[in-house]
Amino acid sequence: MKTPQQLHIPVLLDSVGRYLAPRAGEKYLDLTAGYGGHASEILKITQNPEQAVLVDRDKNAIRELKNQCGLANAEFLHSDFLAAAKKLQDSGRKFNLILMDLGVSSAQLNLPERGFSFQLDGPLDMRMDERQSRTAAEVVNRSSEKALCEMIVKYGQEPVKVANRIAHAIRLNRPFSTTKQLADTVAKVHHGRGKIHPATRTFQAIRIVVNDELRQLAEVLPIVVELLESGGRIGVISFHSLEDVIVKNYFNEHSRSGFEATLSLITKKPVTASPSEIVYNPRSRSAKLRVAVKK
Ligand SMILES: C[S@@+](CC[C@H](N)C(=O)[O-])C[C@H]1O[C@@H](n2cnc3c(N)ncnc32)[C@H](O)[C@@H]1O
Repeated sequence: MKTPQQLHIPVLLDSVGRYLAPRAGEKYLDLTAGYGGHASEILKITQNPEQAVLVDRDKNAIRELKNQCGLANAEFLHSDFLAAAKKLQDSGRKFNLILMDLGVSSAQLNLPERGFSFQLDGPLDMRMDERQSRTAAEVVNRSSEKALCEMIVKYGQEPVKVANRIAHAIRLNRPFSTTKQLADTVAKVHHGRGKIHPATRTFQAIRIVVNDELRQLAEVLPIVVELLESGGRIGVISFHSLEDVIVKNYFNEHSRSGFEATLSLITKKPVTASPSEIVYNPRSRSAKLRVAVKK
């Protein structure tokens, strides 16, 4: 049986190294440390775990990180990254390198009991942080049909016609308690002929709502820039356009020429995975890395 670290292959690892360009002695903050794939490579170069902070809102990830040699001397924060960034800012901390590798880890996706997967049957949960009370079941069973339709359009990017059918079928078939029940109900009314599973976008929408993902990202970026030393680099890896557009707009807005620009772009266009990485790690297919440096 594979360990969580073996299940999760870090995406764009070479590009993260090339564009973040860590140097010995630099202070590293990983806001989505997961299973430490990126962190352990970066800390091999900075050789400065004592001044590194590794954040994740998933207790399983924090437990695994603490057990990895090379990371053991870092500081660990079991927290969502918005709260962690505010805490670090309040205590006046500064970093040379900050990484955010958004979304879920393969370990989360592949454990049926976490309820993220439409392919594995499990409780309809989807919480990255199990201390949080709102689960996917609560969102699905308690939201109005109109609210469900809106979230499937906005966060799942399904056409309104399709979202209407899904939201209606959800309302008629409630209550839901398992991922399979929901995936089957969505599949019956989706009528899609695309390559992806018909429930992919509905699951994405519900996961974004359960974990408040886009608000977390939009609100953390200004704080992250405050946490950077001058000359420090921030890298963000996103997995869908809703995340990428937030990062792209923020980086563009704050790097425009002019006195008040706080960032310079290191990647003018997002860096994506090579065909060979996509074969080796299909999850990298939709990854986009953007890196900026603080002025
Ligand atoms: C794609 S994985 C990161 C993998 C990591 N870079 C590695 O190489 O092992 C994303 C991780 O970010 C965490 N995460 C996602 N959103 C978060 C948030 N708002 N605050 C804290 N952690 C978050 C998830 O729990 C997950 O463990």
